[in-house]
Amino acid sequence: MKTLLDEDELQAGVTQLATEITAAYGDRPLTIVGVLTGSVVLLADLIRLLDMPLRVGVLQASSYRSGTTRGQLTINSEMMLNVAERDVLVIDDIFDTGHTLVEVVAKLQDLSPNSVKTAVLLRKHGRQEVEFAPDFVAFDIPNEFVVGYGLDYADQYRNLRYLAVMEPEDLASHCP
Ligand code: IMP
Ligand code: MG
Repeated sequence: MKTLLDEDELQAGVTQLATEITAAYGDRPLTIVGVLTGSVVLLADLIRLLDMPLRVGVLQASSYRSGTTRGQLTINSEMMLNVAERDVLVIDDIFDTGHTLVEVVAKLQDLSPNSVKTAVLLRKHGRQEVEFAPDFVAFDIPNEFVVGYGLDYADQYRNLRYLAVMEPEDLASHCP
């Protein structure tokens, strides 16, 4: 598979993200909410670059897609921390159509946080369908399907240490 971002480039982007987050929050205590499952690798790398007092929670967002049609999004927040009166930073792997982050932020806003901001590793060019922009973005990428560094195709490839483009011949050779 074609490499879009190698390990060093990913690490540099995550370090830059941490610098921007630190500049925004300073020493203020932060509650991080990772969106499962795609954010797990970013979450692990990013939190170790942040020095403010930090709590880490997760929620799961899953949408059932068929082809290019968007499916119903389900948010499972049973495992999440209490976010009332906290400064919350939502972490996700990729901002694609944007519907996932918009719904996650709306759900968190209902829980009386002090503030909610969002950080993503990737933003895909020309795909957004919402009037919303993440506060922190490590990389803008072309409109291609990517895997690795947490991102999956059919639940595989999350463990790749680099970000790869899944091309038609890769899809054909994929073992389910
Ligand atoms: P959105 O709601 O369209 O912004 O979709 C966000 C979710 O779709 C991400 O958290 C990913 O799980 C998934 N997704 C979107 N584009 C890609 C991709 O290129 N590779 C892997 N997953 C993707
Ligand atoms: Mg995801």
